[in-house]
Amino acid sequence: MKYYIETYGCQMNVADSELVASILNEAGYEAANNIDNADILLFNTCSVREHAERRVLGRISNERHRKKEKPHLKIVLLGCMAQRIGESLLTEDTGIDVAVGVDQYKYLPAILKEEHGSALNFNSTENYEHLLPIHQGKHCAFVTIMRGCNNFCSYCIVPYVRGRERSRSYTDILADVRSATDQEMYDVTLLGQNVNSYHYQDISFPILLRQIEKDVPKLRRLRFVTSHPKDLSDDLVQAMQESSVLCEHIHLPMQSGDNETLKRMNRSYSYEIYLDRVKALRNAIPEIAITTDLIAGFPGETESQFESTLQAMREIEFDYAFCFKYSPREGTASAKYPDQIPEEVRLERLKRMIDLQREITLKKFQAMIGKEVEVYVEDFSKKSRTQVSGKTRDFKIGVLSGDETKIGSFVKAKVRAATAGTLICD
Ligand code: 5AD
Ligand code: SF4
Repeated sequence: MKYYIETYGCQMNVADSELVASILNEAGYEAANNIDNADILLFNTCSVREHAERRVLGRISNERHRKKEKPHLKIVLLGCMAQRIGESLLTEDTGIDVAVGVDQYKYLPAILKEEHGSALNFNSTENYEHLLPIHQGKHCAFVTIMRGCNNFCSYCIVPYVRGRERSRSYTDILADVRSATDQEMYDVTLLGQNVNSYHYQDISFPILLRQIEKDVPKLRRLRFVTSHPKDLSDDLVQAMQESSVLCEHIHLPMQSGDNETLKRMNRSYSYEIYLDRVKALRNAIPEIAITTDLIAGFPGETESQFESTLQAMREIEFDYAFCFKYSPREGTASAKYPDQIPEEVRLERLKRMIDLQREITLKKFQAMIGKEVEVYVEDFSKKSRTQVSGKTRDFKIGVLSGDETKIGSFVKAKVRAATAGTLICD
């Protein structure tokens, strides 16, 4: 029996799909090289915004016709959406046969033996110990270090679908990072909803980073997502400064630059505290790139509060910002807040945010012209077979001339030109 997994949402889900692949392979299933050859279609889903949920239901409905030629074909819902509404989707006419939640992947082979089924219980200690995910990337690998979240930001569904925070054992993390480098993936990203609060026995996050660097000498680049500004300690900044593998990049979601809005978001920091962390990072690592997440049109956000966010964007000058239109999620605190912002206002603010960030990103990328960067070449460029592309240490896309012999290597190159997304190098 062959399976095919489609993954939506964040990198946590990418890593979970690799875990599911490992569980299925161990149970004797085989990965299909394309969707047409599969007997089981798995959709690993995201609930963070309503749009993400609608999109995946559309995808599933597009694939249902396959059951006509292949009556034994099974459609499986995994991930956050399965956890949130899997039970009701199984009773509706969706084409979904099986729903398995984020803590229940070990039971997937058993459930697949039944015609229909679900496993959606929470298990707040599930950490998938001793399981080695099958990394699917060619050069970059994602390694989960913790699961769940304790923060309860008022807009966020994650604590309700992924349960409470738990950290993975150092031994398992080490085995995972080693297996990545043994497969020539030298750029590793450690994953968790809030990596800064990693704690396993007496190992804190900065200790974990230092230890990985020491124990995996083949590793060339180490990254982590996502960091919560309230837990970004001076010790972590120091660990980043001292390390030669930790990349000069941090993703630090700000969400809003307005203190009232931050309070209603339950973010536990003010803009001043956020700015202080940015300054600490830039003092220690002057060339660091800082990226962020921002939400437009949070309930109660006034025009002037929104302007504060734009002002913060101008002051900080993020290298890149993922900008989102607020999406009310049932069960979260802010879905019940008064003063929900009309859709057209949310959209209009989102557009202004994106336009401003595009300008800033272009400026940041153009400031790189003339500088030397290291590109970890991952593939041919999208446009040409005579050009290759990959990421710089500070998480920008670099394009340079070259053929397949360059793929998989680290190339030092000089930035000649830049767009708001790519560094063109020589
Ligand atoms: N509406 C809009 N954006 C959201 N995010 C999380 N929940 C919501 C929501 N309800 C965004 C946040 C988070 C990113 C992963 O998704 O910016 O950092
Ligand atoms: Fe989406 Fe959040 Fe789940 Fe990731 S953890 S898949 S972002 S809902």
